[in-house]
Amino acid sequence: MPVPKRVLTVFGTRPEAIKLFPVLHALEQDDRFDSRVCVSAQHRAMLDSVLEIAGLSPHYDLDLMKPNQSLDALTAAALTGLGAVMDEEKPDWVVVQGDTTTVMAGAIAAYYRQIPVCHVEAGLRSGDIYRPWPEEVNRKIVGSFATLHCAPTETAAKALRSENVDPKTVHVTGNTVIDALHWVTKEVAAKPELASGLADIEARFAGKHIVGMTSHRRENFGEGMEAIASAVREIASREDIAVIFPVHLNPNVRSVMNEALAGLDNVALIEPLDYPHFARLLDIAHIMLTDSGGVQEEAPALGKPVLVMRETTERPEGVEAGTAKLVGTDADTIIAEVGKLLDDTDAYEAMARAHNPFGDGHASQRICDLLAG
Ligand code: UD1
Ligand code: UDP
Repeated sequence: MPVPKRVLTVFGTRPEAIKLFPVLHALEQDDRFDSRVCVSAQHRAMLDSVLEIAGLSPHYDLDLMKPNQSLDALTAAALTGLGAVMDEEKPDWVVVQGDTTTVMAGAIAAYYRQIPVCHVEAGLRSGDIYRPWPEEVNRKIVGSFATLHCAPTETAAKALRSENVDPKTVHVTGNTVIDALHWVTKEVAAKPELASGLADIEARFAGKHIVGMTSHRRENFGEGMEAIASAVREIASREDIAVIFPVHLNPNVRSVMNEALAGLDNVALIEPLDYPHFARLLDIAHIMLTDSGGVQEEAPALGKPVLVMRETTERPEGVEAGTAKLVGTDADTIIAEVGKLLDDTDAYEAMARAHNPFGDGHASQRICDLLAG
């Protein structure tokens, strides 16, 4: 029996945890690996909620979150803290996912120790270094030296090859978010109480079309967020709709949204939902309105029209397939596009088609097989 490979998986935020728990479940069940987990805890409550649902207990928790943390302080703390863990663990692989500060710092710490890096969700590119910011540059940094690039789609793989990344290191695995969505759907089917916490809100808004909403992009802070909030205020003045908006814990988001939207009859401003409840929101939503990355992948898989409040996206697959539409952050445009989907059945039907540009739900197994080499 060969010695199991020691794999150190590093993550810090809610979306990384959601997209890595299926990989961690697969690694844990596979004799080829000794799986170790380190969280930077760049997020706290929003990370812990995923750890709990997915049954994960990290071996290391750096507990780095500080209120309203700056990018440079977080980067410095993550680089130092993650490097120290790598010195102790001496892994054969470091696995990171996506494009957050933890991902960039974790990958660099591994590179400084000449440990091979596996980048999950590699090759996403918007082509604009300030949108999304700082994520576009974070993932380009990791892409410039990772040993294994697990691209979710052929478009992402092509982007890497066009940057002269060695094609032998680029593999199309699908996006592990689809694995996560399948897992949570099965869990909730077996234990419906896991997602029953929205019952009161569902009863309050019975008979209305639900607009599910999220917003948190750093490049939208200030003017963009205010425009989004004023658009939602106007949209919610219609009697036939209701907005359910789990508000991200970033204070830059909460201050604007609370100020503009608290107390409105047709808006439920609620705390971030755990993953089973967010899956429930996706299920009951007529439309999703978001600037999130992950929601742009989940909504198409479920056939939910998703209006993306960004000027550009690194996930063009949903837009190309017609389930997603870029609406930017101009209030009038957002109001008009939501109105069109509510009032024009043909426009709605054209977008409401389930398809799977982001994978078949088996990305995690492919990633394990690539790590095993
Ligand atoms: C981070 C990522 C972003 C990702 C997003 C997912 C960076 C630079 N940004 O953005 O790429 O899309 O997570 O949600 O890596 N906070 C809490 N509790 C939490 C989480 C956050 O209170 O559980 C508050 C804290 O005040 C924290 C602030 O939110 O300082 C910002 O958190 P941070 O991780 O720096 O940035 P996000 O905007 O969440
Ligand atoms: N999500 C969640 N609860 C919420 C909002 C989002 O579980 O209240 C999930 C969502 O299903 C998706 C991920 O969080 O998988 C997206 O995270 P976020 O929007 O914070 O980050 P991004 O994807 O933009 O990096």
